[in-house]
Amino acid sequence: MTDLIKRAVDDITAANHVVALTGAGISVESGIPPFRGKGGLWEKLDPMEFAHIDSFMRDPAKVWDILIREMKGVIDTAKPNDAHIALYRMQKLGKLQSVITQNVDGLHQSAGVADVIEFHGTFARQFCLKCGKTYETGMINLTQIPPTCECTGILRPDCVFFGEAIPENEMARSQVEASQCDLMLVIGTSAIVQPAAFMPVIARENGAKIIEINPEPTSLTNRISDYLIEGGAGSIMKQIADELEKAAGHAK
Ligand code: OAD
Repeated sequence: MTDLIKRAVDDITAANHVVALTGAGISVESGIPPFRGKGGLWEKLDPMEFAHIDSFMRDPAKVWDILIREMKGVIDTAKPNDAHIALYRMQKLGKLQSVITQNVDGLHQSAGVADVIEFHGTFARQFCLKCGKTYETGMINLTQIPPTCECTGILRPDCVFFGEAIPENEMARSQVEASQCDLMLVIGTSAIVQPAAFMPVIARENGAKIIEINPEPTSLTNRISDYLIEGGAGSIMKQIADELEKAAGHAK
């Protein structure tokens, strides 16, 4: 165990209200590419052309064909990795209150985490632009692009596109969790996209410790976070959960 993992285990043990803020990096080891950096989705596609609500409304067939169809293929088959499972293990130990995630892949829920705040919505559901009827993404037939509702309206994922507001309830709950926690784990996010990247700032301003887990420094490192544990989320989070379980076992 490295010194920083030991430090994180001690800090989590001493904390009363732990919240995790997660980003695309936590799902990389599940085979879902991140947005930025090497191999990132925005290296291949311009987000303003494919992930902005105005682009979708202008040409839904193009966005469905090039971005959403591919996302569906990847997300449909992805499974939680050691990092998602470690957060569930922390929850079982009473050491995790909630997860605020920027991800739309549903992997925290698949791992068993009870309180997941989906800051950017969910890819699990589609809704009709005309009548609002919702559909499970797994049930959508992609023989016709864009897929349509029984009322003939076009379907769109229930995710937040650029240019759209964060869902009100998720925004409010995240702010409450960020201001009430005494420790925030910031896992696998470049912390570039606002307002999600502001949650660690709120936590810090309210006296919480901020621990980052990421293979590389981010805009929070050395500024907002207390320390960065450098590396992949799966291995680091697994070691943290192993140690917390060991300590809980010893205490029995
Ligand atoms: P990014 O793609 O911006 O950042 C991914 C982060 O994960 C980077 O800091 C990587 O260093 C890190 N990373 C890569 N592999 C990792 C691993 N194995 N373990 C841990 N970390 C790893 O993703 P987000 O910060 O989530 O928004 O992006 C935020 C938002 O930008 C997304 O929710 C999406 C996107 O545009 C919308 O679609 C509205």
